[in-house]
Amino acid sequence: MNDKPIGIFDSGVGGVTVLKELQKLLPNEDYIYIGDTASFPYGSKSKKTIIELCKKRIENLIDMEVKIIVIACGTATSQALEEMRKIFNIPIIGIIKPTVKYLKGKNYKNIGVIATTGTIRSNGWEENIRKSIPDAKVQNKACPLLAPMAEEGWTNNEIAKLAVHEYIKDIKDIEALILGCTHYPLFKEIIERELKSNVDIINTGEMVAEELKEFIYANNLENSTEKSGNTEIFLTDLECNFINVAKSLMQKDRIDIQKID
Ligand code: DGL
Repeated sequence: MNDKPIGIFDSGVGGVTVLKELQKLLPNEDYIYIGDTASFPYGSKSKKTIIELCKKRIENLIDMEVKIIVIACGTATSQALEEMRKIFNIPIIGIIKPTVKYLKGKNYKNIGVIATTGTIRSNGWEENIRKSIPDAKVQNKACPLLAPMAEEGWTNNEIAKLAVHEYIKDIKDIEALILGCTHYPLFKEIIERELKSNVDIINTGEMVAEELKEFIYANNLENSTEKSGNTEIFLTDLECNFINVAKSLMQKDRIDIQKID
């Protein structure tokens, strides 16, 4: 048993799509979420910068005495997870491996990946898919405008529909589409409409929650209390639209945000 909180971070509000799934599956746990809004977007930055930013956010979470860290960001997972595991002596879970495990279980061979420019450039998804499913065919597409639009709350208007159409119109004959950036589940409705066929649209947060639960129970790290858990949210910059998007995502009238330096 371990009653310390679970730490989770992303560049902004995208990781809240993961947080929501963790809260559903592990409701008794406490969570500390950091949105690195001062450094948003991660998707257009170099690997070196992403590594530096991840180091800082993980140090923040370790200072807050979390028991495990979830990198709720495709860009950071694909470019910094391995490095972070070398530096820090705390369990760290990213979004790629748990999702690839799910794809393999489903025996999918034709897979689409949409993600940020940095994630697609790193080839992190395709490499991990091929390691596990060698004959898989992967179609990748960078969608650099989607995460900033999600931060703005533009996830179901005409501009969002046009952008989604433009980005995914050439992805054909897939069984599954990975939303390889944690901001993209916010566009799920219009992505579904755009694909028009029976494609499994994958919200990585669901797989991350399964993986985290398994890890926590296998290592006796579960919270011992029966109460429903508490979530604290910190941002590196408060001048942003985070609260409004997070409120609608979490279906709450009120969310308390604190500033972290
Ligand atoms: N939500 C992030 C991801 O999963 C980062 C988006 C961004 O900051 O560009 O890639």
